[in-house]
Amino acid sequence: MHMRIGDREPLTGSDGRAQDLTDEANYERARSISRRGLLRLSAGAGLGAAIGTAPAAAAEDPATGIVKPLPPELFIPHGTNAEMRWEAMSGQGYLTPADRFFVRNHVATPRIDARTWRLKLWGTGLRGAPTEDRPFELSYADLLGLPAETLTASIECTGNGRGFYTAQQGQQVSGTPWRLGAVGVARWRGVRLSDVLERAGLTPAAVDILPRGLDADYVDKGENLGRVRRPLPVAKALKDVLLAYEMNGAPLPPDHGFPVRLVVPSWVGIASVKWLGDIQVADEPLFSPWNTRYYRLFGPGHPPEGSAPLTRMNVKAAFELPWEATLRAGRVHVLRGRSWSGNGRVRRTEVSVDGGRTWRRARLHDAHASPSGWVRWEFPWRPHAPGRYELMARATDVTGTSQPPIAPFNTFGYLFGAVVRHPVTLA
Ligand code: MTE
Repeated sequence: MHMRIGDREPLTGSDGRAQDLTDEANYERARSISRRGLLRLSAGAGLGAAIGTAPAAAAEDPATGIVKPLPPELFIPHGTNAEMRWEAMSGQGYLTPADRFFVRNHVATPRIDARTWRLKLWGTGLRGAPTEDRPFELSYADLLGLPAETLTASIECTGNGRGFYTAQQGQQVSGTPWRLGAVGVARWRGVRLSDVLERAGLTPAAVDILPRGLDADYVDKGENLGRVRRPLPVAKALKDVLLAYEMNGAPLPPDHGFPVRLVVPSWVGIASVKWLGDIQVADEPLFSPWNTRYYRLFGPGHPPEGSAPLTRMNVKAAFELPWEATLRAGRVHVLRGRSWSGNGRVRRTEVSVDGGRTWRRARLHDAHASPSGWVRWEFPWRPHAPGRYELMARATDVTGTSQPPIAPFNTFGYLFGAVVRHPVTLA
């Protein structure tokens, strides 16, 4: 188990610096939310955690439905989603700052008032089987008053790398054509889901939970599929899942799930439901389009109803370089990047600068990092001749799983795990 008690940790931003606790506007906003919550918070976690507990004032962009700015040097827009450019991680610390963390939204970011927000738990897997209209409820202040934990974990879209099915393998797949920027690592703070389930009266008969977001209904080609909801087995829910209210030492930003989201370490990003509103707990298996119609492998070699629902993410590596970067010839470049895996820590990353003919090991950092985060690495390269090159990085994780040259096809283009050929020009 890689969770730690967060209360003893200093509150720092993603850059490692302490948050500015002197901003009166933030303090006032926080205070207007809940004096009770704030008092508990200042006793338990330090005042810093209260910063900005009220939603920020900015409105979402009508074109994307995303609230935070999406400067072109940090993001590639994809409809209601925004992909992080990998060069945006260059010179950053271990964590992905919130201003450049990718956004994957089925619909627009909703604006939720933490003062009236409630988390509702209901269903046949709870003692007394509370119903949806008479659920067990927790307020934001209640949640802030429970023991806090921190967890450093990646969130990654199941379709991360999907664009390479077409660009590298010439295959047509449906979905957002991400390169490798639909992943980020943050330090999440909140309450263990297991604590809340226990308080709500979890019974031994409970099998599945169904967390549901408060964003608007998702309509797919004219068909209303209702609000985003994805079943999770109780075993995983009890293992290491967090009800997060902070990201990198600050309250969750609106686009990343304010006031509360799930963080389901190592699993497909869809499991980490944002803007959490309610959780059904059932004594029988649960289904939604997000574990039947989507997030299974479909296509040749798979049954008509698809594979089993996807759970863990696969192993990947990325260079912190612009796509089609131009570098100066005749000098040493230290190539930097990051590798991660849903199977656990990455043990090795090799780099090829000659199209995969020869491989040499990169120097790994972060040997003691969270197994659900990533590792940074570097590789010195002195290219001699100008021209076009394809840089390749191949990670191997703790289970010995390595990145293959070709990713197995599936119609939705999930889990692209093959080595990516990153084009650069030496000028
Ligand atoms: N939760 C809700 N309520 N609505 C959504 O659209 N998208 C999911 C998940 N949680 C989503 C959601 C998907 S597919 C991913 S990959 C992650 O959120 C993305 O989290 P992020 O936008 O904070 O990066």
